Amino acid sequence: MKPPLLKLTNVNSYYGKIRALNNVNLEINEGEIVTLLGSNGAGKSTTLKTISGIIKPKSGEIEWNGQNLVNVPPHRIVESGIIHVPEGRRIFGGLTITENLELGAYTFRKNKKWIKEGIERAFDLFPRLKERSKQIAGTLSGGEQQMLAISRGLMGNPKLLMLDEPSMGLAPIIVQEIMHNIQEINKQGTTILLIEQNAKAALRLANRGYLIEIGNIIMHDSAEVLREDDRIIRAYLGA
Ligand SMILES: Nc1ncnc2c1ncn2[C@@H]1O[C@H](COP(=O)(O)OP(=O)(O)OP(=O)(O)O)[C@@H](O)[C@H]1O
Ligand SMILES: [Mg+2]
Repeated sequence: MKPPLLKLTNVNSYYGKIRALNNVNLEINEGEIVTLLGSNGAGKSTTLKTISGIIKPKSGEIEWNGQNLVNVPPHRIVESGIIHVPEGRRIFGGLTITENLELGAYTFRKNKKWIKEGIERAFDLFPRLKERSKQIAGTLSGGEQQMLAISRGLMGNPKLLMLDEPSMGLAPIIVQEIMHNIQEINKQGTTILLIEQNAKAALRLANRGYLIEIGNIIMHDSAEVLREDDRIIRAYLGA
C-alpha cells in the first residue's frame, strides 16, 4: 500500500502554556475526503494551523509526501501543495471576485495562462461567481463569499485542500451546494481535509473521520461506522 499523503504522529501544539493538541495522530491518504469533527474549542482549527505551519508544534512529526513539515515556513508549505481555507473566509472585501482569485494564484504569479485557466475552472465549479465576477467581494452573500474562499484556495493548485467550517452560518440549501462542490473538487483529484460542525453533511461526503475532544483524537473510523456510532449520534447527529 502507498504511504499516507499526510501523517501526523504524536503532535503537541500549545498556545503559551495551554496545550491545544495532545499527541494527535492523523493520516490522510491520497484521494480521500477526511473529516475532523469535534465541539467548539476541541482543537480542530489548531490542527489545520499546525499542518499549515501557522503554529509550530512543540513536539511530534508531520510527514507530507515523505517530507518533514515541522519547521518548514508556511509559504513553503503552500508551495508544496497544502492549502488552508481558514474559518471565517477572510476574502479581500474591497476587491472584486476576479481580483481575489488572481491573488489566490500568487505562487504562480508569473504564469498568466495558468491563472486564466484557474479562474475558468473556478467559474465552472461555481457559476454564481462567474455572473458576479466584477462584483466587490464584500457585497457578496455569505454563501458566495464561501464559494470565493474555496475557489481562491484552488487557485494555489492544492494536492491537499483543508477547509475550516465551510458551511458556517449558511442556509441548508447553500450548505448542500457547497458540499456537492467539495465532492466535485475531490473527484477532480484533490484530497480534502474537512472540518465541520455539521457532522451529518460531513459524514455523508467523507471516506473517513476523526473525532477530537479537548485536544485528543478519541475516535477514528470509516464514515459508515461513525454514522452508526452511538456517541457520534448523541453528540453530533441529534437523537
Ligand atoms: N490564539 C489563541 N490563543 C490562546 N488560545 C487559543 C488560541 N486559539 C485557540 N485557542 C484555544 O485552543 C483550543 C482549541 O481551539 P481551536 O480554535 O482549535 O478549536 P476548534 O475546535 O476549531 O473550535 P471551534 O469549533 O469553536 O472553531 C481552545 O481552547 C481555544 O480557546
Ligand atoms: Mg475552529
